[in-house]
Amino acid sequence: MLNVHNLSVSFGGEYLFEEISFRLNGGDRVGLIGKNGAGKSTLLKLLSKDMTFDSGTIAIEKDVKIGFLRQDIDFEQGRTVLEEAYQAFEEIKALEQRLEYINQQLAERTDYESEGYHQLMVDLNDVSHRYEIVGGYNYQGETEKILQGLGFVREDFTKKTDTFSGGWRMRIELAKLLLQSNDVLLLDEPTNHLDIESIIWLEQFLRNHTGAVVIVSHDKMFLDNVTNRTIEISLGRIYDYNKPYSKYLVLRHDMKQQQLNAQKNQEKEIQQAERLIEKFRAKSTKASMAQSLIKKLDKIERIEVDEDDNSVMNVRFPISITLEK
Ligand SMILES: Nc1ncnc2c1ncn2[C@@H]1O[C@H](COP(=O)(O)OP(=O)(O)OP(=O)(O)O)[C@@H](O)[C@H]1O
Ligand SMILES: [Mg+2]
Repeated sequence: MLNVHNLSVSFGGEYLFEEISFRLNGGDRVGLIGKNGAGKSTLLKLLSKDMTFDSGTIAIEKDVKIGFLRQDIDFEQGRTVLEEAYQAFEEIKALEQRLEYINQQLAERTDYESEGYHQLMVDLNDVSHRYEIVGGYNYQGETEKILQGLGFVREDFTKKTDTFSGGWRMRIELAKLLLQSNDVLLLDEPTNHLDIESIIWLEQFLRNHTGAVVIVSHDKMFLDNVTNRTIEISLGRIYDYNKPYSKYLVLRHDMKQQQLNAQKNQEKEIQQAERLIEKFRAKSTKASMAQSLIKKLDKIERIEVDEDDNSVMNVRFPISITLEK
């Protein structure tokens, strides 16, 4: 549903990404990992089209809806928690307004035999039908279920959003994203402001999500419980494997060991060849053999070991969970 091809991004002449490629399909639950400053948030911004890039392509299939949990949340003032959450249902809300208008007209007008009145009846039928199809009779229950899953109690529903702390406003935004039935969910540190019950609820929800999910998180257990694929950003390139976080780390470690071993063996071979060349050079009769060995040596493709990002990590203290509302 989403295809990234040879994507490059640079800041001030330094590449953050250099020709990275990957594809996202329905059912992919990706843990996006990497050191501080590796480019995780930037990649989410690129996928959500919040940001442009230097070269390459990001192709998104038609009608694919992308939902992005941003770090900065800006609600319109004056809405209650429920009203804000209902904003997720744009079409349903618009249909409700139309229905209200039609019903009001039908009640007020008395020109029963007119063309206009007849049209109102037809519209009522069409709009009601559409309303039912898009879940007009279920969305309120769905909303309450998701808000409760994320830790709100019924008494909170009618309180204004501005009476809640930033962490709790983030939960409202997350609820909206989950209600929107997005095909791709991009979540940057979704568990930062959640308590353990809400984290467990979110794990379950995401595991059942049929679209694609890309999650940036420092919570290893959350990643292990939710994801089935890991993309690591390191030094401008990506490593992409169909394994959750912990299994990915083991796999990467094993692969690195294999690379190191292969490199060691190759070095040994090269050294042997070089010793032979030295020996043959000394004898004029063996000059052509030395020559062909040199040629062979030149052709060997040197095994490279994936470089580690050894830059010093910014020390980051875990963000305390804000439980007060
Ligand atoms: N608009 C910009 N202009 C210049 N540099 C930028 C811009 N946006 C991001 N960067 C740089 O790109 C790098 C990656 O930033 P990004 O926020 O994507 O990292 P991250 O992997 O999300 O890190 P963290 O784990 O700390 O959240 C950083 O060095 C940042 O300073
Ligand atoms: Mg970030």
